[in-house]
Amino acid sequence: MFILGLTTLGDSAATLIHDGEIVAAAEEERFSRRKHHSGFPYQAMQYCLEEAGIKVADVAHIGLYWKPWVLRHKAMQALKSAVISRDMFKARVDRGVAQVGESYLGMLRHPQLIRKHFGPGNFRFHFLEHHQCHAASAFFVSGLEHAAIMTWDGTGEDTTTLFSQGEGTRIKVLKRIKLPHSLGQFYSAVTNYIGFDMFAGDEWKLMGLAAYGKPNYYDFFARKVLTVNGNHDFHLNIRVLDHHLAKHYQFGEEIAREIGPPRRPDEELTERHWNIAASAQKVLEETALHLIQGLHERTGEENLCMAGGVAFNSVMNGRIMTESPFKNYFVQPAAGDAGCSLGAALLVHHQLLKQPRRFKMEHAYYGPGFSSAECASALNEAGLRFETLPDAEMLPRVAKMLADGAIIGWFQGRMEFGPRALGNRSFIADPRRGDMRELLNKKVKLREWFRPLAPSMKEEVSAEIFGRPHYDPFMITVLHVTEDQQGRFPAVVHVDGTARPQTVSRKTNPRYWQLITEFENLTGCPMVLNTSFNIQEPIVCRPSDAIKTFQSASFDALVLEDHLVLRQ
Ligand SMILES: [Fe+2]
Repeated sequence: MFILGLTTLGDSAATLIHDGEIVAAAEEERFSRRKHHSGFPYQAMQYCLEEAGIKVADVAHIGLYWKPWVLRHKAMQALKSAVISRDMFKARVDRGVAQVGESYLGMLRHPQLIRKHFGPGNFRFHFLEHHQCHAASAFFVSGLEHAAIMTWDGTGEDTTTLFSQGEGTRIKVLKRIKLPHSLGQFYSAVTNYIGFDMFAGDEWKLMGLAAYGKPNYYDFFARKVLTVNGNHDFHLNIRVLDHHLAKHYQFGEEIAREIGPPRRPDEELTERHWNIAASAQKVLEETALHLIQGLHERTGEENLCMAGGVAFNSVMNGRIMTESPFKNYFVQPAAGDAGCSLGAALLVHHQLLKQPRRFKMEHAYYGPGFSSAECASALNEAGLRFETLPDAEMLPRVAKMLADGAIIGWFQGRMEFGPRALGNRSFIADPRRGDMRELLNKKVKLREWFRPLAPSMKEEVSAEIFGRPHYDPFMITVLHVTEDQQGRFPAVVHVDGTARPQTVSRKTNPRYWQLITEFENLTGCPMVLNTSFNIQEPIVCRPSDAIKTFQSASFDALVLEDHLVLRQ
């Protein structure tokens, strides 16, 4: 039985499962080439059907990641803002009406829209709660028979944080925290305070910058903005920091008095901004640990699953992993809203239809893949000269080029689901070179100097690097590198001595594992530097995207499956 899951607003995506196993999953942005594409995922859904070789008539159920009629929070937000100012009240009502009319209620017409666009179908359509989709997206593919589940994000319909517990094919909701109390919205608001753009997903930048600062403003944030109470709850004081005002770069007097004025996007980044970032990061971590402690007490579980946009905070995840009472962790790689398409499909399969669980998500390679012939034809079309090599020649040659300082666009197999490139659509380089981070950030990726870069390491060596066994095929946790190891890989160790590794398994990505092994044979270094293959746009999807990026940028070589292109 085929079940389709859809995310249709903000990070739109489609996932197709067959008897509970993922057949295909992809974000719409990779096809449309618009970052964080919002709107019905026509191309992603088309891709999922094609990958399975089916039509929409073969799909038994479609799950949507949202219940569009839960609109309470829109009215509540408007009323709350009425307390603050009349203008804000009016703006919110106007915006709310527009949003509801265009988007949320538009979801009610999705079944008709699907039949109109994709042809006739007898599917049953399910509107599902956003946070339960997040929870399902993690727990049902975790391989854990039972677990405590924490999902946290900006907001769902009105829930921002869901405490739940999974057992077998069931997820039991334990507790909800609702708007305006949102960890995601808090972090986004500070992102804009620092002059970054939360709509572009710049929360990554705030987290990267935090490592450079001191949490001098932590007391202010913990006392006045994001406070916790004894009930394992938290409170966001929107009178001091309001996410909706922050969207428009408007901030109140109190916060400016305490931490200084907000930064304009074109202003220089100073130590004060680093310190604000460090303080916001710390209060997020402390609050998260407080909530996680509560979840542990309530469930008595040893296993923890997490999803929701806040679960992308890999520094927070690292602290949860090392400091919380839980023993086993699973964070789903598409932890943001795109992953809700997976959760929606799984929620239908397991919770509604009570089908047993067999599938475990051990990798994220569920997007489009392209044959050697397709890659060759794209290269010919672009007029690029290339060599076609068997792996026995290709892998040692690429390893040698890396060791000699080359930056390589590496394209193989099926594209990753989720925001991390995991060796199938990656820029790879030598992590031993101290100048490599700056080179990659400035010259190739055209982005800020402070953005950390991460290693792909053979899973066999992670215990040696981190001083503890570590398994993370999804690059979603930041850990401290042991002191004696830090100097070996300066390009992938952040300023605070941490790294965010992808542990590469011979089983799930044998070719990438073998490439790293060739590099190790040559250099003694069991990892490569890995950053996503994209320059200011979504990660490359098709061979033509990779070729276009190669032609417009300044990295040294491109590998498309078994074809090697050298920059002339
Ligand atoms: Fe979400």
